[in-house]
Amino acid sequence: MAESNNISLVKKLYSEKRIERNEWNRILTSLNDDERNFLHSFAADITRNSFGRGIYIRGLIEISSYCRNNCYYCGLRCSNSQAQRYRLTKEEILDCCAQGASMGFNTFVLQGGEDPMQGREWLVDVIEAIRLHHPDKAITLSVGEKDADTYRAFRMAGADRYLLRHETRNDAHYNTLHPESMNGKNRRDCLRTLKSIGFQTGSGMMIGSPGQTIEHIIDDIEFLDELQPEMIGIGPFIPASGTPFANEPAGSIDRTLLLISLLRLRHPKALIPATTALATLAPDGRLRAIEAGANVVMPNLSPSDVRRKYSIYDNKAHSGSESATQTEILKKELNAIGYHIDYGRGDYKK
Ligand code: 5AD
Ligand code: SF4
Repeated sequence: MAESNNISLVKKLYSEKRIERNEWNRILTSLNDDERNFLHSFAADITRNSFGRGIYIRGLIEISSYCRNNCYYCGLRCSNSQAQRYRLTKEEILDCCAQGASMGFNTFVLQGGEDPMQGREWLVDVIEAIRLHHPDKAITLSVGEKDADTYRAFRMAGADRYLLRHETRNDAHYNTLHPESMNGKNRRDCLRTLKSIGFQTGSGMMIGSPGQTIEHIIDDIEFLDELQPEMIGIGPFIPASGTPFANEPAGSIDRTLLLISLLRLRHPKALIPATTALATLAPDGRLRAIEAGANVVMPNLSPSDVRRKYSIYDNKAHSGSESATQTEILKKELNAIGYHIDYGRGDYKK
């Protein structure tokens, strides 16, 4: 039987540098179930070519639920009076790292809102302390927009990687998701600065954020083609109570999986997590992401009493295989689909 046009186009996404917008549009809107399954298994093949059947794990430590920003979609936005706030101390963070190290984690991800109380000096001190206790482990930061000097100080102190999603490449759309104090160009400048300083840099976007169109998603794909990030995080939008978007519908799981596969074709070596947002929307979301081309999971290492307070969106998953203390569950789940945990640092390799 002749190969369908859509299947040839899927192959072209992998092999050719330049893809026209109308071709992206076709892929995003017209795949039937068979073509979609072909795309997912093609993307999973490419992933296995790059990484084998190992899935990297990163220990996620949510260091503060305070944020000076007011993104309309996020439960931690500063004007959400329902949000429960906490910040971890340096000692608490070091305890999380020690616990993670004893469980075999080789990457720690420090993620938090833009908390003015956890400024440059404080963070540099924390990074240096982690470096001292765990010289061989990778340190990833995800603490938002800073100036170039601050990013440089973090890098000098020993941080290796930085996650900062661009959220949406379309500036008009960006402005409907954020207040005037933030802008998309700043974000993208931060990302370029991070790359130039030598951070393995992660970017990405939500799928199904309010007002997002197919054209916006194509802008995102093209931006990632240009940026060439080492890591790409994408997850469905999930409404958060106490925010202006509390009553908006969640993003689609299928569309998120489609994007994971498409981005895998464009970025064969990128580290792509199966995100908590997917796991929150569907019990098998994480495994389906792996079968669509993801190769990283980030179980939660935060102290259990603060986990429910780090509520970016409603009903965020934080137990079972989302929890770092339960890597056994994760291990079993991965084994059941023919994969295993890779405890290595999982640096980006060209
Ligand atoms: N739903 C899904 N993802 C969200 N994020 C923030 N709020 C939400 C939400 N309501 C994502 C953003 C941010 C990352 C830390 O979490 O993309 O960059
Ligand atoms: Fe703050 Fe990040 Fe939430 Fe925006 S998305 S309010 S910057 S924690």
